[in-house]
Amino acid sequence: MAEAHLGAAPHPGATVPRVEALLARMTLAEKAGQMSQLPLFQPEAPTEIVEAVRQGRIGSFLNAHSLAQRNGLQRIAVEESRLGIPLLFGRDVIHGYKTIFPIPLGQSATFDPDLVERAATAAAAEASEAGIDWVFAPMVDIARDARWGRIAESCGEDPYLAAEMGAAMVRGFQGEDAGAPGRVAACAKHFAGYGAAEAGREYSTTSIPEQLLREVYLAPFKACVEAGALTLMSGFNDLNGVPASGNEFLLRRILKEEWGFSGFVVSDWASIVEMAKHGLVEDDGHAALEAARAGVDMEMGSSAYITALPDLVAQGCLPVGVLDDAVRRILVVKHRLGLFDRPYREAPPEKRGDAYRVVAHEIARESIVLLKNEGRVLPIAKGAKSIAVVGPQADDRVDQLGCWSFDGDASASVTVLAALRARCKDAEIHVAKGVDDCRSNDRSGFAAAIDAARRSEIVLAFVGEPANLSGECRSRAFLDLPGVQLELLEALAQTGRPLVVTFLAGRPLVIGRACALASAALYAWHPGTMAGPALVDVLLGDVSPSGKLPVTFPRAVGQIPLYYNAKNTGRPATSRLRGVPTGTPLDPEGFESAYLDVDVTPEFPFGFGLSYATFEYSNLRVTPSRAAAAESLAVVVRLKNTGQVAGDEVVQLYVRDRVGSITRPVRELKKIRRVSLKPGQEVDVDLRLASRDLAFWGRDMRLGVEPGVFDVFAGGDSCATLSATFEIV
Ligand code: GLC
Repeated sequence: MAEAHLGAAPHPGATVPRVEALLARMTLAEKAGQMSQLPLFQPEAPTEIVEAVRQGRIGSFLNAHSLAQRNGLQRIAVEESRLGIPLLFGRDVIHGYKTIFPIPLGQSATFDPDLVERAATAAAAEASEAGIDWVFAPMVDIARDARWGRIAESCGEDPYLAAEMGAAMVRGFQGEDAGAPGRVAACAKHFAGYGAAEAGREYSTTSIPEQLLREVYLAPFKACVEAGALTLMSGFNDLNGVPASGNEFLLRRILKEEWGFSGFVVSDWASIVEMAKHGLVEDDGHAALEAARAGVDMEMGSSAYITALPDLVAQGCLPVGVLDDAVRRILVVKHRLGLFDRPYREAPPEKRGDAYRVVAHEIARESIVLLKNEGRVLPIAKGAKSIAVVGPQADDRVDQLGCWSFDGDASASVTVLAALRARCKDAEIHVAKGVDDCRSNDRSGFAAAIDAARRSEIVLAFVGEPANLSGECRSRAFLDLPGVQLELLEALAQTGRPLVVTFLAGRPLVIGRACALASAALYAWHPGTMAGPALVDVLLGDVSPSGKLPVTFPRAVGQIPLYYNAKNTGRPATSRLRGVPTGTPLDPEGFESAYLDVDVTPEFPFGFGLSYATFEYSNLRVTPSRAAAAESLAVVVRLKNTGQVAGDEVVQLYVRDRVGSITRPVRELKKIRRVSLKPGQEVDVDLRLASRDLAFWGRDMRLGVEPGVFDVFAGGDSCATLSATFEIV
């Protein structure tokens, strides 16, 4: 297997004189203090916390309540503690601070890393104005299971797309200099494999063979490290029998040695002491020993380090060098954030919410995926005189923000109802929620909704999940629309009016029946503060929808895990549904990898998304058609807008390595390119495949390219049929 050129690992951090000088003076208790992060639960920190800061026994806080609280504690650390080491303040700014952007799954649906980077830049600016130095984002756990509520926070199922998105967020948060005004430290999380939770059940066990771990689950983290992420967060999950927060193979062997990561690792909340619950250790003291040895540099949310580490070193159980390495990493990050020189934050002269909302509007618009548009019922006709707006998600300022939006300013939310009223002043807008909220089983509001539909030319229904049904600790065993929303759609469909269904949800839902009732269907995820203007721009045709699905949509929850880059198996399904007619003899027939009771294909495939334009792909060619492993290949495909309106298309390039010493997925996304075309316009789209795009982890756990025949597919989703082949010799 030829070694592929895989890009240089980041340089280990250069030594910083002021850090080395401090390290030489620190006591064991002060070192353990720097390795400890505690939450601030009240606007006024309790006396014992203030005293611990004064004694240098805490190095970081999360969730400061105000700039005043932050600067007050910082002043004690800098001006009253023995060594004056500044504190580091962290917070969950997952998809925005006060201004909320689409949930990360929605941001990934843009397939637009540049725009995602801009959104992260805006989020960083708004967060740093509030005194936040460090955000616990991006979350880049690969999620192939929509039952898992944190799929909402993820960048989806694909390692390439998640890597592109995660790296873009790191760049957006940190910029070229994370210590510059408006920048914050990023934290790629949850390292690693957390999204492979068995049965999609939150915090459950993960069993991932090393080859799969490296190829799929680690790829986005490697991209974040290569993008310069200053911190990573270790996960809660038991990974192959060793919890991630005590997993030396993961944290030292791979992250710090193989990848040369020079930042620091913070544990997830109490994930160190939870190793006793996992049954890896007896008590907190042993948990501290295990985690420190494994390479967790800072403990979040519990006090095992500050309590146990000094004694463990004094008793000779733990080399002091382990603490020195951890503290060095932490102090270097504080240095790079400029905290030694500028420990205090001032409120900005003026609030810049408008600027942030401009970006929030743009990214929310690009995140919207058009799933269906029968008879071109969308965009809504300009002269529409009567529009029914129905459903629990049409006017909910909080739900549209999605999970992890605790700091979001819901008063700034613009709902789709408000935006429609502002834009369609000449139309009668008939409003009826139909159900009070997404989860209601009360049908008493159906009559008013049906009446509103009957009095309108077109019915816009906004349904889905409330914000609190996705995110952490929100696993669902069923993926149907909650409550009686589907029945509401059935009642609306019976009026015979064109029905446009827009789903606002934190995950792929099972929506086949709902889409069948609709003439048109849009998936908007939880779009954030500017949900309304973004949706109205699409509904009225100001822009063509251009979002693409970052996850596969199942027909039934029983198909999960269901993802496009799967293996072929020895008996791939040739038919879509293997029914068993009555009288079928006992011995089965049709020996294929399929179900008896559901079509084996997805409801909607990864990468899928329609436009108001139509696009034609042709003339896919690869040069050279035979190449050595280290060579790069030029891939060109012709793209034409054959529609009547302008539109953006996300060109997707998939590769299949037909034969490998490890079986290869039937397709793997390797390149994306967003292209804007006017009606009739056509272009050659140039893509390039490098050897690192063809490399995979072999049986010997080495990354490289094997000779053989490869297929490439180019198109608008993972079912693209336009193909070409090339050979690596
Ligand atoms: C939570 C989450 C993690 C978050 C941390 C701090 O439990 O798992 O993503 O950053 O604790 O709130």
